[in-house]
Amino acid sequence: MVFKEYPGVDPISLPRDIRHTQESLSQVLKHPSAGKHDTLHVEDLSRILLLSYSLTGRTHQADGDFYYRSAASAGALYPTELYVAAMGVAGLEPGLYHFSIAHHGLSLLRKGDLTGPVTHSTFYTGKRAPVVTFFLSAIYFRSSWKYRERSYRYHLMDTGHVAENLMLALRSAGAKAILSYDFDDRRLNHLLGLDQRREACLAVCHVHGNRGPAEAAALDLAELPRLYQAASQVALREIDYPALHEIHAAGSHPPRAQGKGGMISQLGITPSDWTPLPSLDSWPETTPYPDAVFTRRSRRNFVSRLLPNSQFLSLLDGLCQNLSELDHTRICTGFLAGNVEGLDPGIYLLDKANRSMGKTAEGSFVDRMTRVCLGQEWLANAALHFLFMANLESLENAWGTRGYRHAMLTAGRSGERLYLMATALGLGCCGIGAFYDGEAMELIGLNDSSRLLYLVAVGPIKRA
Ligand SMILES: Cc1cc2nc3c(=O)[nH]c(=O)nc-3n(C[C@H](O)[C@H](O)[C@H](O)COP(=O)(O)O)c2cc1C
Repeated sequence: MVFKEYPGVDPISLPRDIRHTQESLSQVLKHPSAGKHDTLHVEDLSRILLLSYSLTGRTHQADGDFYYRSAASAGALYPTELYVAAMGVAGLEPGLYHFSIAHHGLSLLRKGDLTGPVTHSTFYTGKRAPVVTFFLSAIYFRSSWKYRERSYRYHLMDTGHVAENLMLALRSAGAKAILSYDFDDRRLNHLLGLDQRREACLAVCHVHGNRGPAEAAALDLAELPRLYQAASQVALREIDYPALHEIHAAGSHPPRAQGKGGMISQLGITPSDWTPLPSLDSWPETTPYPDAVFTRRSRRNFVSRLLPNSQFLSLLDGLCQNLSELDHTRICTGFLAGNVEGLDPGIYLLDKANRSMGKTAEGSFVDRMTRVCLGQEWLANAALHFLFMANLESLENAWGTRGYRHAMLTAGRSGERLYLMATALGLGCCGIGAFYDGEAMELIGLNDSSRLLYLVAVGPIKRA
């Protein structure tokens, strides 16, 4: 089952005919984060959901139409589901809803104001109660039938992709929001009515507004009908991969402490010197932000043409925006430069906190990385291979065992941001999860406890 449905619950349609602003992605990324809105209207919610997770492409296949979505997903398998707890949305009855991407509608699962249970199960520390809280989950079997145990990476990164769309949509709406990966797994999955062997919540996003004080209360919530839990099942016969549950359960404890220190110094590769990045007033964007979301696709038709320096610096500028959100204590960003104007080919690290970049090795690595990525030949033509990396030991020391979730979700968010920036700049982009872990680590020169988590290729593409 590609779309989650609840038997006997008809989704309430959200308004679709909505005006989108024509602001650029760089403007959205550089917005001050303070909220403009005190209340959220149902039209705002509808726009936010359209920009976060919507159907944006269709192909005809032998067994029916297949729909692509606004967020990239490994193998186009779309494990991510979205739920909304509306607590102060004008025009929408308070309650817990499942977002139906197929109908662009909301299926009511629980009626009433859920502020108490939501804030309690998510360790919410804000002074004022959220007006709306979004929950992002993954249905394991959607991806595990194909990728088996490796699918847990994709559950996290795919969900990070949707989370980035959501955070940008909220920024664009002027809403002040906070994304969290830390909550009480069991309580929250129960609140959402998930079958915990099949589906798990991975991220939570609270939107602040002008409501009363938050009072976290552990109300005893009724079990939702068994039929609702059964909606987490997506195939008649599903294979259960115990390792998936073990990895997820290993991260069930909230972090002992907040991460400190940058991941950049933990990988075992250090540039001899750093080049500061210029501050950019504008980027050479050709597509406004909403269109970039709706037209984003994985484009693999890279051509070996020089990537202009202005586009290259825009990509780095975009990755350095809103630092706390794409946290440099969880991952380190680097890139393999192939064909970039004014830049020697080599391996580079991006120091987001200090807005600078430094070369750790000189030479042509793009071809070799293509072989490490299972020989996906078209990668050899991409001007840049962005690398999202982490030292897994440092991650655990800083964030506890939940750190792995943090890092993979953050890598996914960074990937979606790159996709949108590339689209806005008229470049191609494709995320790569298929690579040999050991060989990637060796090629980049990482120390034993560090790994490449995700690679995203960007560069000029063949024009139609
Ligand atoms: C985590 C992740 C890993 C991916 N890995 C690969 C890959 O190894 N090779 C590839 O060609 N595409 C890869 N993709 C791209 C997906 O195949 C693509 O997003 C999906 O087919 C949907 O198409 P769209 O991005 O055009 O909407 C990956 C995407 C994500 C999010």
